[in-house]
Amino acid sequence: MTPAQTVHVGIQDGVSIPITPEEFAWFTTFLRGRTGIELKDGKQALVMSRLDRRLRHHSAASYKEYFALISGGRGEEARIALDLMTTNETYFFREPQHFEMLPRLLPSVAGQRPLRVWSAASSSGEEAYSIALTLAEHDPSGLWEVFGSDLSHRIVDTAARGLYPIEAAQRVPGHLRTAYCLRGRGEHEGFFTFDAGLRSRVTFRQLNLTRPLPDLGTFDVVFLRNILIYFSSDTKRQVVDRVATTLRPGGYLLTSHAETLMGLETTLESFAPSVYRRREQV
Ligand SMILES: C[S@@+](CC[C@H](N)C(=O)[O-])C[C@H]1O[C@@H](n2cnc3c(N)ncnc32)[C@H](O)[C@@H]1O
Repeated sequence: MTPAQTVHVGIQDGVSIPITPEEFAWFTTFLRGRTGIELKDGKQALVMSRLDRRLRHHSAASYKEYFALISGGRGEEARIALDLMTTNETYFFREPQHFEMLPRLLPSVAGQRPLRVWSAASSSGEEAYSIALTLAEHDPSGLWEVFGSDLSHRIVDTAARGLYPIEAAQRVPGHLRTAYCLRGRGEHEGFFTFDAGLRSRVTFRQLNLTRPLPDLGTFDVVFLRNILIYFSSDTKRQVVDRVATTLRPGGYLLTSHAETLMGLETTLESFAPSVYRRREQV
């Protein structure tokens, strides 16, 4: 038999390789150490559904064998495994109340410096572009910029490309779609992007919020939405404190409506549901 005709025992189409409790514990520790994300007991099926294909790709017969490929390190496979185990769900104008509120949160600093908004777990960029569209509508010629970051290199590349399936544009309000969205042609048929002026105000960078941050400057508003739910309360406190230091005094931090900072002693005070304000005097 040629190698192409051989099939690893236990690796047949449609059959998931089981994960033992010990193996699951290695993966949860790996994920926690790299990202802060807690995988609760019971998420074995999730790990299996996301990594099964990688085991097959490497002809690994068990999670132990696959773990040996990623545990050492910094390699490409470790990155792929982390990407697969994180949840990147996002869409344009998710939790629209925040976008309605955003223009009212911005100070009037016209002409002095750019207003800066950070999408701190931007996933594929829909949140950052929703912010940009909102600012463009509010202040088309003003000085403002949007910065997006995410743990995943792959997803940051997607965000920077700024090319989305045409169906996703349905979530962009009609008047903003008409003013700023461009339908793809040729190889980009079926996709849309934003006009160059809007895109030039949005930049992305890979960042891990559980590690010390580089100098990012100061932000007026930070969106930190749908990420804190994955962290332990200790990690959540550290991430919120770290992100809050980038806010100017009086600046705002927005979490998802499903997340709360209640019980965390921080430099922030509650301003409205899921909106926190950095105290003027810290
Ligand atoms: C569910 S998405 C939220 C996207 C967007 N903020 C929203 O609300 O639609 C969560 C994102 O957090 C990112 N993430 C997870 N752990 C992270 C970390 N330690 N540092 C930075 N980003 C992280 C994931 O890669 C994922 O793209």
